[in-house]
Amino acid sequence: MKNSKPINYELEKNMEVISQLDDLVGDAVDNILVDPETCWQPSDFLPEFGNPDIHDEIKLLQKRAEGIPDTVLTSLVGNMITEEALPSYQTYFNLLEGINEERSLVSPSGWVRWSKAWTAEENRHGDLLNKYLYMTGRVDMKAVEITIHRLLTNGFDPKSESDPYQAMIYTSFQERATKVSHVNTGKLADKAGDPVLARICKTIAGDEARHEKAYKSFMSKIFEIDPNGAILAFEKMMKKQIVMPAVLMGEGGPNPSIYTRFSEITQKVGIYTGWDYAKIIDHLVNLWKIESLTGLNDAASKAQIYLSKLADRYMRVADRMKAPEEVQLAWLK
Ligand SMILES: [Fe+2]
Ligand SMILES: [Fe+2]
Repeated sequence: MKNSKPINYELEKNMEVISQLDDLVGDAVDNILVDPETCWQPSDFLPEFGNPDIHDEIKLLQKRAEGIPDTVLTSLVGNMITEEALPSYQTYFNLLEGINEERSLVSPSGWVRWSKAWTAEENRHGDLLNKYLYMTGRVDMKAVEITIHRLLTNGFDPKSESDPYQAMIYTSFQERATKVSHVNTGKLADKAGDPVLARICKTIAGDEARHEKAYKSFMSKIFEIDPNGAILAFEKMMKKQIVMPAVLMGEGGPNPSIYTRFSEITQKVGIYTGWDYAKIIDHLVNLWKIESLTGLNDAASKAQIYLSKLADRYMRVADRMKAPEEVQLAWLK
């Protein structure tokens, strides 16, 4: 007898709904993402090495970056490393059930086009931040490169299983989280006297805002078609908590706690905090009108109650959470 896996009816249903969104997602590629020819590119923000006065330009860049506090710089490096793990994100996305049934990266399907065009936009973020940080002269690039290498080697587990619904919850949340993080870094860079870095962070945050808008609209459509399934996925993802994409950056290496160090610093300087986590939940609960959904089945009604109280719970936790007194820097010279 053939040893076959039991059919997962919930997943089959989710895949069917996901395939109904293909045109909507294709439209998002054409209307929310930006054409490579007209899109900003990292070199728009960086000194041109062919210029005769390149040395002065670099000196100026380094002068501006001098005032950025070590903690802020470490946060920025961590954000850059997160962005550099991009191959993991494209792989993850294409492994979701129902996204790439043809197993082809040249498939004309809306979802496959999205997976590539989205990650292609993301690719510029790591590129730009990496080059900029290199030029500041303040970062131990070899240490950074080792961490990127290790993170890519270790991979990425957002705990969304291969369920496309949970993945849309994860990405909606995560794009908003990266937006918040880049916006806050930009503000701190401005305060520290580096308006160019501030503009870089603001520009990247603008990309994240478009991605967030798209992912939220995909999930809104799922809520419209299948409110019971959508709310259950939201509950599942929130119970597992949103694991940051770079969490495995230290695993198996000589600095296994390097991710914890990075996240303590972002918490301390206010780049990404427990409050932000709570506020994102609140935003998504309101956006998808969780509290006023009607006609739900029993399990979905329970999820509704759980989700309706969740942001408040996290706000209370954030309230009690103290920023660590001492933090340990990483990746700097
Ligand atoms: Fe990004
Ligand atoms: Fe993004």
